[in-house]
Amino acid sequence: MAIRKIAQLGEPVLRLAARPLSKEELLSADTQRFIDDMIDTMRDADGAGLAAPQVYESVQLVVIELSSPRRYPDVERIPLLVLANPVVTPLVGAGGVLADEDAITVYEGCLSVTGLRGRVRRPRKVRVQALDRQGEPLDFVWEGFRAAVVQHEVDHLHGTLFIDRALPQTLTFLREYERYVSPDERVVDGARSARAAAGA
Ligand code: NI
Repeated sequence: MAIRKIAQLGEPVLRLAARPLSKEELLSADTQRFIDDMIDTMRDADGAGLAAPQVYESVQLVVIELSSPRRYPDVERIPLLVLANPVVTPLVGAGGVLADEDAITVYEGCLSVTGLRGRVRRPRKVRVQALDRQGEPLDFVWEGFRAAVVQHEVDHLHGTLFIDRALPQTLTFLREYERYVSPDERVVDGARSARAAAGA
């Protein structure tokens, strides 16, 4: 196991469409070692997720884990998850219109965009279809903060970074984020806000 170098904004690999893995390739010793490296690298960098292109491999693999959500108050932990060839389908916002109660808005950051945060609004409920690291199919629905995390990571496999989706006026460096973005603004789950507004 090893900690890999993380590609920074401007590295061409971050903008490529990553290729899917065959089941045979996924199960190979090389790929299994690579997945372990991805997990080590994510944990070492204190990230909530990591996609293979971020460590210079343009293949469809992501790892996700949120054990200490210190930068985001009130979000649930996410146990370690490895996804190969993931497909994320929004379950809200049909027709391209995302109502506030169907949105999750997060000040996102990225290990490949060091020091920057920005507000990104995404569908708050998604279906995730993928293979696990043993090549077994996964099919589940995620809502809220974890839906934002998996969308961010799978975006990397299509060459998309959070800064492409962030409202430009909300971009902020980490020091200023800690200073000026209140904990209430860091994660806004539209469904929760709608329930609060209704007094439920
Ligand atoms: Ni990222």
